[in-house]
Amino acid sequence: MNSPIASEFLGGGAARPARDGEAIRLVQASVRYRVPHERIGTFKEYLILWLQRKVKHHTFWALKDVSLEVRQGEAFGLIGQNGAGKSTLLKLVARVLRPTSGRVWVKGRVAPLLEIGAGFHPELTGRENVYLNGAMLGFTRQEMDARFDHIVDFAELWDFIDAPLRAYSSGMWARLGFAVAIDAEPQILIVDEILSVGDEAFQRKSLARIQGFQEQGVTILLVSHNMGVIESLCQRAAWLDHGRLQAIGEAREVIRAYRQSQPG
Ligand SMILES: Nc1ncnc2c1ncn2[C@@H]1O[C@H](COP(=O)(O)OP(=O)(O)OP(=O)(O)O)[C@@H](O)[C@H]1O
Ligand SMILES: [Mg+2]
Repeated sequence: MNSPIASEFLGGGAARPARDGEAIRLVQASVRYRVPHERIGTFKEYLILWLQRKVKHHTFWALKDVSLEVRQGEAFGLIGQNGAGKSTLLKLVARVLRPTSGRVWVKGRVAPLLEIGAGFHPELTGRENVYLNGAMLGFTRQEMDARFDHIVDFAELWDFIDAPLRAYSSGMWARLGFAVAIDAEPQILIVDEILSVGDEAFQRKSLARIQGFQEQGVTILLVSHNMGVIESLCQRAAWLDHGRLQAIGEAREVIRAYRQSQPG
């Protein structure tokens, strides 16, 4: 369970894995989505249009030619406007998505904390979701038995643990997701904006926990619209704009450049 996993995601071409000391490496990674031109009401309508070859798509690049490296033990921030491609990039690293072209290498066990709800099922209880999530992270039932109390303690959700997740507020949902992911002793922690969902006390606790990971040498990839959080946690950052890498470097410098580009 603790051995590092080297994984490679492809878009063709010769392999050249992450170098020593690198946790994540993207080389000209691009993601293209196909979007139907007009809103299609039902699946049946879609099928009829498709059979008539009348479904018109346009394609667009959510991520275009992004190259970057994150070193082992580094906390790396990702910033940019809504729709800039930040979550898309995280999904590549979390192996939820494959790049349309380019390459993505990730070295180490990843605990993904993607957008709220990713990997959780609303009809299952909190308890069932914890076990399911643990299974997805590669833990056995026995291992999860040993971790369970600790997870629910951190989430502070004992009162709700046997209720279905649809009865949870989005903040409670996020707490559970956060608690499961950080209990997994990840080598790479991916956090998508989740810190902004919990209440203030939980945000502080989560932040402290992330800092603790940092001290242990865990690699952290963090997306946030909260520049204060990025600046206090991350050494380096990248700014994405319409799917392209606009700037990369010292977090403070990248934040300043991003802010200067924003109106108002
Ligand atoms: N499954 C999908 N199909 C089509 N388009 C998508 C899909 N997922 C995301 N997109 C589009 O890709 C672009 C990038 O989305 P992404 O979620 O990566 O942005 P983001 O930077 O995380 O934004 P935010 O700050 O709002 O979370 C957006 O224009 C979005 O609408
Ligand atoms: Mg996002």
